[in-house]
Amino acid sequence: MTSSVPLVCSLTSGKGGVGKTNLAVNLAVQLAQLGKRCVLLDADLGLANVDVLLGIAPERNLGHLLQGMAVADVLCPSGYGFSILPATSGGTELTALSTGQKLELLEALDGLEDQLDVLLVDTGAGVGDTVLYFNVAAQERILVLTPEPTSLTDAYALIKVLRQRHGVDRFHVIVNMTSTAREGKAVFSRLVGACDHFLGGIALNLLGVVPQDPLVRQAVTAQIPFCAHTPHSPAATAVAQIAQSVVSWRPQEHADGNIKFFWKRLLFAGA
Ligand SMILES: Nc1ncnc2c1ncn2[C@@H]1O[C@H](COP(=O)(O)OP(=O)(O)OP(=O)(O)O)[C@@H](O)[C@H]1O
Ligand SMILES: [Mg+2]
Repeated sequence: MTSSVPLVCSLTSGKGGVGKTNLAVNLAVQLAQLGKRCVLLDADLGLANVDVLLGIAPERNLGHLLQGMAVADVLCPSGYGFSILPATSGGTELTALSTGQKLELLEALDGLEDQLDVLLVDTGAGVGDTVLYFNVAAQERILVLTPEPTSLTDAYALIKVLRQRHGVDRFHVIVNMTSTAREGKAVFSRLVGACDHFLGGIALNLLGVVPQDPLVRQAVTAQIPFCAHTPHSPAATAVAQIAQSVVSWRPQEHADGNIKFFWKRLLFAGA
């Protein structure tokens, strides 16, 4: 990410509870430490875990933009050098807005392009439309899985739907909660094997392996991101390495801007 073009990257999973929100929050902490202006879009419309992990309660969300509020006033500082943007409250689907409201939202979000380097999107789990739309709209996707067999099959199911319905064929992969680095690589190989055998033409990049680390739970209880709570813990060290890779990505530039392109694709995905 050596250019000034912002990057839009989702963190997603087939199975729930694999560590997406923890990884998203801590990746944001690390990106901020590397000097990147980062906004974490909390797109898990069901449960807003980002606030719980950070011990904050954002009062505003995307819906407030429709009430005329400026985007700078809707962003909630995390206390760790990045901001939170709650996608919505009350479970309203963005795609259910009227065309007029969508256009209004797009205009209100216009200013965001110049204010950030990375937009990280923490999605919910599964293959529901909202999860799919956020992933289709993002430029890069980080698929999180764990060594549990169900996590592997659910990750494969998400890849399959994104590929077959939306033509998405490139994914970064983080294997989280591993006992050893070798186990992480083995899980990744199984995913590659399944994709090669049943789908073909899917590009998977092993972005990182994050160990099962008891210090993560301690940090969650303290409501402090583990990268700030225990910066030298095994999990924090792994996320720091992941952040180094992410900043080396060179986002492709879209004619109408990357952030705007993301919102457009997202809002008009079902249209
Ligand atoms: N590397 C790790 N080591 C130990 N525990 C972890 C690790 N990563 C995540 N956890 C634990 O796993 C649980 C689930 O994490 P998290 O809420 O981030 O998952 P999620 O994928 O966002 O879940 P959901 O699908 O519900 O949004 C949390 O209790 C967290 O403490
Ligand atoms: Mg989550």
